[in-house]
Amino acid sequence: MKDSFGRDITYLRVSVTERCNLNCVYCGKTDCAKKENELSADEIVSIASAFTQCGIEKIRLTGGEPLVRNDICEITARLRALPGLRTLALTTNGVYLSQYARELKKAGLDSVNISLDSTDGSTYRKLTGADVLHRVLEGIDEAQRAALTPVKINAVLMRGVNEDSAASLIDLARTQPVDVRFIELMPFSDAGEDASRIVTNDALLRRFSFLRPLGARDGTAEMYTADGFCGRVGFISPISRRFCGTCNRMRLLSDGRVKLCLGDETTVDLRPLVGQREALLQAAQNCIRSKPAGHRFGETTQPHGLNKTGG
Ligand code: 5AD
Repeated sequence: MKDSFGRDITYLRVSVTERCNLNCVYCGKTDCAKKENELSADEIVSIASAFTQCGIEKIRLTGGEPLVRNDICEITARLRALPGLRTLALTTNGVYLSQYARELKKAGLDSVNISLDSTDGSTYRKLTGADVLHRVLEGIDEAQRAALTPVKINAVLMRGVNEDSAASLIDLARTQPVDVRFIELMPFSDAGEDASRIVTNDALLRRFSFLRPLGARDGTAEMYTADGFCGRVGFISPISRRFCGTCNRMRLLSDGRVKLCLGDETTVDLRPLVGQREALLQAAQNCIRSKPAGHRFGETTQPHGLNKTGG
């Protein structure tokens, strides 16, 4: 279904929880996320079903950290069964991934994105508050063994924090068939970041000039590779090259509100309509129609950290 700006809305991101087992400096996790407010698996499936009836073809499970929910495999299997759904993916910090990869694949998950901002143990600990880099690296291996592919690795660089990790992150794409994607830091409240911390993708491309453009996009990422690489390197530039004009996304928050744009405060609560099929469908259509033209990063900081919106 098209929104009021003619964009085809085909992609729903579903945050299944605000809870997270890490505490990343840029995330904006502020309050103690409460389990009580989380949608049940039934509620998630009802709301997602309304959206697939509106033409959503791809769902990504996010959080918080989606693997802290103990019914994540059930949610995966039930979403997989929705008519019209083509792609079902999940974004995780990877800490619990080696335990879950096979079961998730069996439940019908297609692929995973893994957040990893440094391959240096002490930098990783500084960024996330936890000494678990080895578990994330195991998770990346296990995801490949379980064929949750393409495995994509998301990295956010911050000046003076983990800028130095760029080279070794790029190296993962040299030695493994993975996509390493650099996401420009976005301003979320209380995240301790400011504009001076942003490492622009143009600066990275100048520094790693051996990367050669593939002339192709993968969703929001511009893709590059280099001689001898097994994988690819992607650049996602919400700040320096906004892509709102081709945005195809809606976001369901873990409490049942729909966020119409990552960089806009507007939300619509669909939870009260669960159980009323027709009303829920109409409300989902209205959400799509009301999607704003573009994000407002740079004008205001965002009240919802990525722990709520799952990126
Ligand atoms: N700016 C940019 N990207 C972020 N992510 C989390 N917080 C931010 C931020 N402030 C990324 C994580 C995760 C993805 C969903 O969003 O790397 O992989």
